[in-house]
Amino acid sequence: MPAPDLPALSRRRLCLRGLTASALGSTLAWPTGARGRTRPVTLRFSHVVAQQTPKGLAALRFQQLVAQRSGGRIRVLLYPDAQLYGDDDEMQALQLGAVDMLAPSLSKFGRIGFPEFELFDLPFLFGQVADVRRITQGPLGQRLLEGLGRQGLTGLGYFDNGFKQMSANRPLLAPEDFVGLRMRVQASRVIAAQMRALGAQPVTLAFSETRRALETGVVDGTENPVSNFWTQGMHQVQSDLSLTEHGYLGYAVVANRRFWLSLAAADRELLGQALSEALSYGNQIADAQNEKALAALRQAGTTRIHVLSEAQRERLRHAVEPVHKALANRIGLPWMDAMRDALKQSVKG
Ligand code: SIN
Repeated sequence: MPAPDLPALSRRRLCLRGLTASALGSTLAWPTGARGRTRPVTLRFSHVVAQQTPKGLAALRFQQLVAQRSGGRIRVLLYPDAQLYGDDDEMQALQLGAVDMLAPSLSKFGRIGFPEFELFDLPFLFGQVADVRRITQGPLGQRLLEGLGRQGLTGLGYFDNGFKQMSANRPLLAPEDFVGLRMRVQASRVIAAQMRALGAQPVTLAFSETRRALETGVVDGTENPVSNFWTQGMHQVQSDLSLTEHGYLGYAVVANRRFWLSLAAADRELLGQALSEALSYGNQIADAQNEKALAALRQAGTTRIHVLSEAQRERLRHAVEPVHKALANRIGLPWMDAMRDALKQSVKG
C-alpha cells in the first residue's frame, strides 16, 4: 500500500524525527487476518507527560502486559514527555500513521473537530470521579468514542488523572485574584471561557512549553492536577498552588484506525484486554500519584499550598457558572442534554 500523501509541513516534521514516508508505508502494509497473528507487531505510543504520572504509569503497565502476554512478539514503544510529538502535532501524527496510539487529554479533542469532548472541561461539573464514570462508562461515553472514527481514529477507552488545581505567583482563592493574570490553558474553548469568567486572560500553549513559559513570564499561572505540576518542575517557578479542584482532567486512548484494523483479530483482543487492565490500574493509582506529588511538594517547600474553604470554592463556582450556558452551543445541545441525563444515572463505582 503506498504511503499516504503527506502535506509538506508534516513531511518535514516526520523526516525530522527520522520517520520517512516509506516507514509509514511499511507500517500500513502489515498483513491482516489469522495468518498475521504470528508476525511481530510494533506499536508506537506517544504521550506528553512524565513517566511518574498516572498516564505515564498506565502506559508502562500496558507495555508490560502486552510484552508478557504476547511473549515479546508485540512490542509497545513508549515515547513519553512529548519526546516525539507534542500537543501541536501529535493528533496529526496519529492520523498520518507516524505513531499508532496516543492518550490525549479529553480537552484536546475539541480543536480537531470534536467540541463535544469539551463537556468534560465544564468547571465544577463533577463532584467526584464517580460522576465522570456516569458518562465514560455509559452509552454517552461510547458514542463520544465512536464519533472519533470520522477522523480516522479508533477510541479505545478512558482514564483519569484527577482534579485540577490553580497555580500562580500569588494565591488564587477568589475571583479577584485572577484579574489580569495570563493563565496557560489547553486548547479548549471551555477552559478559555472559564479563565475569562474569572477575569484572567487565557493563553493556549502546548503542555511541553508550559514550564518554560511560566519561568520566563510569558504566562503567570496555570491549572493542572498536582502530579503534572510536580513532575514538570512547575513548583520551581510558581510560588503558590491553590487547591481549587475546579475541574477534571482525564484522557481517551486513541489508535490510528487503519493501524488498528490492520491487526489480526486475536492481537486486537490481546491489546484491548491489556489496555483495559492498564487503564483500570491507572485509575486506581491516579489519586495516590496526586497525593504523592502533593506530599513531595510540601517537602520541597518551594511553593505555598492553599486549601480553600467551602465558601471560597463556592465563590469561584459562582463566578464560572455562566460558562455552562455560554458554551452549551459549542459543545452541542443534544450532548449537553445527554450529559445531564447520564449524570442522573447510577454506576458501578
Ligand atoms: C496531560 O496530562 O496530558 C497534559 C495536560 C495539559 O496539557 O495540561
